[in-house]
Amino acid sequence: MAWFTRFVNSMRPRLPNDERGRMRAVANNLILHLHPTRVPAPALQMRRTWGLGGISALLTVILVLSGILLMFRYDASIERAYQSIQFLETAVPFGSLLRAIHHWSGNLLVITVTLHLVRVFFTGGFYGPRRSNWIFGLALLLLVLFFNFTGYLLPWDQLAFWAITVGVGLLDYVPLLGEAMATFLLGGREVGQAALRNFYALHVAVLPALLMLMLSYHFWRVRKDGGIALPTPSGPVEKLTTIPHLVGIELGVALLTLTALLGFAMLVPAPLEELANPAHPPNPAKAAWYFLGLQELLLHMHPLAAMLLSGSVMLGLAAVPYWDRDEAAIGIVGRSARGREAGLVGFLLSLLITPSLVVIDEWWLDLPSLLPTWSTLITNGVLPLALSLAGLALIYALLRYPLRARPSEALVGLFSFIGGALVVLTVVGVFLRGPDMVLMWP
Ligand code: HEM
Repeated sequence: MAWFTRFVNSMRPRLPNDERGRMRAVANNLILHLHPTRVPAPALQMRRTWGLGGISALLTVILVLSGILLMFRYDASIERAYQSIQFLETAVPFGSLLRAIHHWSGNLLVITVTLHLVRVFFTGGFYGPRRSNWIFGLALLLLVLFFNFTGYLLPWDQLAFWAITVGVGLLDYVPLLGEAMATFLLGGREVGQAALRNFYALHVAVLPALLMLMLSYHFWRVRKDGGIALPTPSGPVEKLTTIPHLVGIELGVALLTLTALLGFAMLVPAPLEELANPAHPPNPAKAAWYFLGLQELLLHMHPLAAMLLSGSVMLGLAAVPYWDRDEAAIGIVGRSARGREAGLVGFLLSLLITPSLVVIDEWWLDLPSLLPTWSTLITNGVLPLALSLAGLALIYALLRYPLRARPSEALVGLFSFIGGALVVLTVVGVFLRGPDMVLMWP
C-alpha cells in the first residue's frame, strides 16, 4: 500500500510546514480564486475604478456580519420590535454603534453602487462581452435598493412605518402588477404584523442569499470578460502579480473605508424616532431618501406618467450597450474630449432646467386649469410625460448635431443630464419639501 500512500500524498497541496506559512498559503489561494495571478499595470491605477466595486463588495460583507449580530437582539413583532431596538441602543454594549454601522453601511452602499454604475458607464465598461454584466448590474442595483427598503421598516418607529407606507403606496401606481405586488409584499393591504414578518424574512434570508449568488456571478463575469475596461493598448502591456500589488491597494482602500465608516458611525447614531403610530402620519410623510426623486416626480405628474418615465429611463439604461457600440473608446473616460464636453453640457443643463421646471410647475403652471375641458389624465399625465420624453430627445439631438457629437458622445451628455436631474429631484425632495410637501427654503 506504500504506493497508494505516496499517490494520495502527491495529490495534497504542498503547504509550508510552519503555521504562519500555511495560513499565508491558504489566504493567497483564496485571493487567487477571486483574482487572476497577474493583472495589467494600468488596471491598478486608482482613477480606473476608484475602488467603487470593491468598496461596495466590502460594504456588503459588513452589512451581512453586522446584520447577523443584530439578529441576536431584534424581535420581529410589532409589539416588541421597537423596544428591542431601544434595548439595543441603550442596554447592549456597543449595540448603538453596531446599529449605526449597519444603518450607514446600507445607505453608503446605495451611493457607492450608483457611483460604480456611473464609473462603468463613463469608461465604456459595458462594451462587447461586458454587456451582460452591465444588464445584470442593473438588476443588482434594484436588488440593493429593495434590500435597503425592506430593512427600513424593521425598527418600527414613525420614520420606518410612514416611509414604507409611502414607498409601498408608490407601487400601487405600477401598471397592471403594482397592486398585486403591494398586497404580496405587505401580506395584506396595510403595513402591520404580516408586513413586518415578510420584510424581515426578505431582509435577513431571501435577499442576502440572492445578493450573494448574484454577486458571485457578477465577479465571475468580470474575470471571464477580461477584467475591468481599459483603453486598447498600442504596445505590450506590463503585467504585475496580484499579490502584493493589487491586494495591497485593495487592503488600503478597505482600511480607509472601514476607518471612515467607523468614525462616522461613532459620531452619528442611526436615527430612531418615536414608536410607529398608524393613526398619526408625520407631516410631511416622505419615502426613504433614495426614492425621493421618484416621490418628487409624482408631485408634478400623474403617478402613471411618473412610473412610465422612470421605467423608460431604466429601459434606456438597459439599452445602453446596444445604443453605444463605440468599442474603440473603451476605457477612455467620456469616450473622447468631445464626449466629456457633452457630459459637462448635459450636467450643467440639468442643473439649470430641472430646478426651473420644479419651481415653474409649483408656482405658475397649472395645466388642468389652463385646459379645463381636457381629462386630467391628459393634462397631468400624457402631456407632462410626452413633454419630458420630447425634452430628453431634444437634448440628445442638440448634443448630437450643433455640438457634432458622435452617438456615443451624445449619449454621455444625455446620461449626465438624467443623472443631474435625479440628483436635483432627490435634493429637492430631501431638503426643500416641508409640511404638506410644499416647496420651502430649509
Ligand atoms: C452590490 C453591487 C455591486 C458590486 C459589489 C459590484 C462589484 C464590482 C467589482 C468589484 C468590479 C470590478 C471593478 C471595480 O472594482 O470597479 C465590478 C465590475 C463591473 N461592474 Fe459591478 N458591482 C455592483 C453593481 C454593479 C452595477 C449596478 C453595475 C451596472 C449597472 C455593474 C456593472 C459592472 C460591470 C459592467 C463591470 C465590468 C466592467 C468594468 O469594471 O470596467 N456593477 N463590479
